[in-house]
Amino acid sequence: MKKRKLGSNGPEVSAIGLGCMGMTIKYGQLDDEHSIETIHHALDNGLNLLNSSDAYGNGKNEELISLALKGRRQEAVINTKFGQIRKTDGTMDINGRPEYVQEACEASLKRLGTEYIDIYSQHRVDPTVPIEETVGAMSRLVEQGKVLHVGLSEAGDETVRRANKTYPIVCLETEYSLWSREVEEEILPTCQELGISLMPYAPLGRGFLSGSIRSSSDLSEDDQRVMQPRFAQENIDQNIEKLVVLEEVAKEKGFKPAQVAIAWILQQDENLVPIPGTKRTKYLNENMRAVDLFLEKNDLDRLSDVFAIGETAGTRYPAGHMKLLGV
Ligand SMILES: NC(=O)c1ccc[n+]([C@@H]2O[C@H](COP(=O)([O-])OP(=O)(O)OC[C@H]3O[C@@H](n4cnc5c(N)ncnc54)[C@H](OP(=O)(O)O)[C@@H]3O)[C@@H](O)[C@H]2O)c1
Repeated sequence: MKKRKLGSNGPEVSAIGLGCMGMTIKYGQLDDEHSIETIHHALDNGLNLLNSSDAYGNGKNEELISLALKGRRQEAVINTKFGQIRKTDGTMDINGRPEYVQEACEASLKRLGTEYIDIYSQHRVDPTVPIEETVGAMSRLVEQGKVLHVGLSEAGDETVRRANKTYPIVCLETEYSLWSREVEEEILPTCQELGISLMPYAPLGRGFLSGSIRSSSDLSEDDQRVMQPRFAQENIDQNIEKLVVLEEVAKEKGFKPAQVAIAWILQQDENLVPIPGTKRTKYLNENMRAVDLFLEKNDLDRLSDVFAIGETAGTRYPAGHMKLLGV
């Protein structure tokens, strides 16, 4: 497995990470046993970066990772997050207060069964707390030896700059894929300038770019994605037209659309470490193979043209959640 370095002073990690979210929130049927097998398979093949959050399954994701890492903690680079709390009425509470940062980290350490978190990230920026205070609290976790590196997720340009002045930010986790390319306009150049890695999440468009979701009826009623505007039938109908080119390129190369979608990201910049999510060894194998897929300039251009910025039908999240992005 090829490696990439996170940030200026961060750890060396596999060129792609493993997004673990779908192991505990509904992206189809859950299967703990196979999810653990998938994490083991990742480690066995040199894929060491595991992406989680205390929000995924309300702590269950971290507990699952703890089970998977029994006796293998040193082999993994754990990236978990705090600060996005789902309330019982389904709405979101964002908390970046310093005392909460400490409390959330201690709870994550306990669930993960580890003495340290490799990369600890703020899941969503709390607009009511100056970023210097939140990142200041995160830097104290580093002093205490509980955290090795500090990251952010979905933060806006100004916030990233202020945060990085407070304490070096190793990575920024943000949605980036063929159908979500807005980061190219401001955030990616900022990360390049500051020596921060961008960790593209949902690099497969939450499964859409694999070509396996062609109708909203392909998702069960309790699948989390039915809440996402891009999985409404009228948006699928428009976005599916773009898949034709992705599927063409994949066929010509002898790879699958999901693999081309990952390779396209990896070739945009050395500073990118995408984290495709899966709970299946079969998909994991395919995604790992994408690291060695080279796309010619002509292929990259064809894909970039058809998936032009701002042309995807439907927003990334429902309206309420959109307000939490780029803060
Ligand atoms: N920071 C944030 O706010 C944030 C938000 C969302 C996600 N994330 C992180 O990013 C990770 C990835 O995002 P995501 O899981 O939402 O979306 P994604 O990686 O774009 O897509 C995941 C979906 O694609 C399917 N899939 C994976 N590999 C495939 C392949 N080779 N062929 C066909 N289908 C394939 C998976 O199926 P199976 O589920 O059946 O394996 C899953 O349904 C998450 O796991 C999470 O760790 C972070």
